[in-house]
Amino acid sequence: MNNKILSIAVLTSGGDAPGMNAAIRAVVRTSIFYKKKVYGVHRGFDGLIANEFEELSTKSVKNILNLGGTILKSARSEQFRTVEGRRQAFENLRKQNIDALVVIGGNGSFTGANVFNEEHGMPVIGIPGTIDNDLYGTDNTIGYDTANNTVLQCVDKIRDTASSHNRLFLVEVMGRDAGFIALNSGLASGALDIILPEENKTIEELFKEIEKGASNKKTSNIIIVSEGNKLGESFSIAKQLKEKFNQLDIKVTILGHLQRGGSPSCADRVLASELGVAAVEGLLNGRSNVMVGKMNNQLVYTFFEQAIYNKAFINQELLRISKILSI
Ligand code: F6P
Repeated sequence: MNNKILSIAVLTSGGDAPGMNAAIRAVVRTSIFYKKKVYGVHRGFDGLIANEFEELSTKSVKNILNLGGTILKSARSEQFRTVEGRRQAFENLRKQNIDALVVIGGNGSFTGANVFNEEHGMPVIGIPGTIDNDLYGTDNTIGYDTANNTVLQCVDKIRDTASSHNRLFLVEVMGRDAGFIALNSGLASGALDIILPEENKTIEELFKEIEKGASNKKTSNIIIVSEGNKLGESFSIAKQLKEKFNQLDIKVTILGHLQRGGSPSCADRVLASELGVAAVEGLLNGRSNVMVGKMNNQLVYTFFEQAIYNKAFINQELLRISKILSI
C-alpha cells in the first residue's frame, strides 16, 4: 500500500447517474477504513477550480445509498478544459494537502482527468458513472441498469395507451453516441423496431418494419429511438412516417432527463460499492490514470485513454434477437 497518499478527494462530473451516491459512500468509507482523510468536491471540476472542498466522515454519507442524483452535485466544466483552469484546480488540491483524486463520471470527465494527470502528475482514478454505458473497460457503467429499468417502466405504460388507441409511438431515449439503453429497453419492452446511433438504418427499412407489423395485425407499435441516431430526431421521423402512412395515428414521447433520476437499482448499488472500494484500493496500490470497471465478473483497471477511445460496442446478438422476436 502507498503510504504517501494520506488524503483523497472525490468528485462527480458530467451527467449525473443513479448510483453515484453509492459510489461516493464507498470511496469515503474505504478511505476512512484505510485511515486516510477524504474530501468531497462540490460541482465536479468547477468546484475543484472554485475551491469547494468539504471533509467527509462516515456519517456524511449515511442514508445516501438509496438516493438518485449526487450529493456532491455535478457539472460539465468549461473552465477545466483550459490549462489555466486545471492549474488552479491543482493549486487548490495542493493547498488542501490532497494527494489523489477519484473522479466519478463518463468519457468527458475522464478526458479531463487524463490531461490533468499528464500535466500535474497527481494520481487520479476514475469510476464509470453514466447512464449511457459507453465506456470500454466495464460491462456496465453505474446508472445504466437503473436507467434501463426506468425506460422499461415508461414504455410498458406507453404500451397500455398505445394498444387502447391502436397507435404507433416513437419513444426517444437517451444516449447521444451510444444505443445501449435503446437496444436493451427495446428488446425488453418488445419494441417493433429500435433505431440506434451505431446503425445506418434508412427510412425505407423503417417503412418495411411498420408494414410488416401491420400485415401481422399488430394493434400497437412501439419504436425506440435513440437520441443521436442517424435517421434524425424523433419528430422528423414521425413526420416522414405520417407522410407515408397517412392512416396511422403516430405519437412521439421523449423520455429525456427522467431517465437520469430515481433510486438506484440493486445492481447499480452493488456495482458502485465494488468500484468505490476498488478505486481507493487501486490508488493506495499505486494505480493512476485508470478507470476501474468490471468485465466478465472481474475487477479491471483500464487506462483512461483506452476507456475513452476504444469504443464499447453494442451487443450484436441482442440486436439479432430483438429482430427475430419483433415479427
Ligand atoms: O451522458 C449522459 C446523458 O444523459 C446523455 O445520454 C445525454 O445525451 C446527455 O447526458 C444530456 O446531457 P445534459 O443533461 O447536459 O443535457
